[in-house]
Amino acid sequence: MRFDTVIRNGTVVTASDTFKCDVGILDGRIAALAAELSNADEIIDAKGLYVMPGGIDSHVHLDQPSGEGIVMADDFDSGTRSAAIGGNSTVLTFCMQEKGQSLREALKIYHAKAAERCHVNVSFHLVITDPTPEVLGQELPALVADGYTSIKIFMTYDGLRLQDNEILATLDTARRTGALVMVHCENEEAIRYLIGRHEAEGRFEPKYHATTRPIAAEREATHRALSFAEIVDTPIVIVHVSNREAMEEIRRARGRGQKIAGETCPQYLMLTADDLDANAMDGAKYVCSPPPRDKESQDACWEGIEQNVFDLFSSDHCPFRFDDPEGKLNDKGKRSFRWIPNGIPGVATRLPILFSEGVMKGRIDINRFVALSSTNHAKLYGLYPRKGTISVGADADIALWDPNKVVTLTNSLLQHGADYTPFEGLEVRGWPVQLFLRGKSVVESCTFTSAEPAGQYIHRGRSSLLSQTAQGVA
Ligand code: URP
Ligand code: ZN
Ligand code: ZN
Repeated sequence: MRFDTVIRNGTVVTASDTFKCDVGILDGRIAALAAELSNADEIIDAKGLYVMPGGIDSHVHLDQPSGEGIVMADDFDSGTRSAAIGGNSTVLTFCMQEKGQSLREALKIYHAKAAERCHVNVSFHLVITDPTPEVLGQELPALVADGYTSIKIFMTYDGLRLQDNEILATLDTARRTGALVMVHCENEEAIRYLIGRHEAEGRFEPKYHATTRPIAAEREATHRALSFAEIVDTPIVIVHVSNREAMEEIRRARGRGQKIAGETCPQYLMLTADDLDANAMDGAKYVCSPPPRDKESQDACWEGIEQNVFDLFSSDHCPFRFDDPEGKLNDKGKRSFRWIPNGIPGVATRLPILFSEGVMKGRIDINRFVALSSTNHAKLYGLYPRKGTISVGADADIALWDPNKVVTLTNSLLQHGADYTPFEGLEVRGWPVQLFLRGKSVVESCTFTSAEPAGQYIHRGRSSLLSQTAQGVA
């Protein structure tokens, strides 16, 4: 058999196995996994390298409206560029419904934003902020059938959060239509109350972002979301979990037999609330929600990674420039933490951090790394087995990793639109030295080798979590 490309002498890693073999690629797909493949137009020598499925980051915000006068630092061009630098071949971003807008209108806008500019594959989660009877009764079922099979809802943020009855109605519709719902769990009423109290007491600095969003507010909302999911009998994903108490809620729900996926992110392993308490306004760089907590919470999140509480390790990349009137240091943001846009950049640093801090420091094995960074995202969001694994028939979305390459993270390396990285100066061991999209080399040693953006929009199937649940009409 003749191949377009053969990757020779590497160590192939999947979520379950590690083996030495060559990878034969034909017409963008993996066509053979065998020893001594040689009949190819191009031979890549991967000696000393891991051959892994390209990363799938299922929690990435790009080009979203973020409040008056605030501009997200990445569009689909720069955000997917940065994703590719960090070893990702697919990102799942958000299509945000504005109040009063139909989901189809929102999709038209986001497809236009993404068209022909994506350096990795892209697929959209639908953010529902206005769950009218038309949206839930007519639009959503049709869109799920068209391959928009996941939804995000918010329990916090003015203008975005749903009321409890709306959460129940959305979850119930998701169950009937076969969509998976991601839930941002923080109690908005408690946060509003605490923000009011802090401001009345003259406490305005960035560090108060953390004290106004305490663990109890995340724990309570997590418990409520899980209870609602139980009541309407549907699986959910609890996204960006930051601490042990929220984690325990997931454990307990699973103990009751609920189908729940849990996600955590690099910021909850590497940052703490002390980072928000930096000199002058520097703490604004680390403002995200839920906020980073403390050392005990970091240890808890590692435990959740090691003990399978978490299925997903995502970046929650939500980039704003720091020193910019349209970013973190906007006029109002300088006056109060309440107006500092929430979110940090991280799509390029997610995988090197997990590889270095997780695999190289012996906390997780390399197969768990693949599961957390790619395979589980593909399974939970309806991309598997086309994406997220190295197997015959899968798309040849492949990352070659050098486990011995030592890199010091610095902003200029990451090619995103933000003017900082929260992980500046962190030394990581292990780096994605080459990335292939459907067999085409797109990045080599942080340099783009493909002249045109090679990413595609992907319509998705049903989540593996839903196929384990009886479907039916309420
Ligand atoms: O602070 C964060 N996480 N911003 C992104 C939006 C979200 O809640 O995921
Ligand atoms: Zn969120
Ligand atoms: Zn997010």
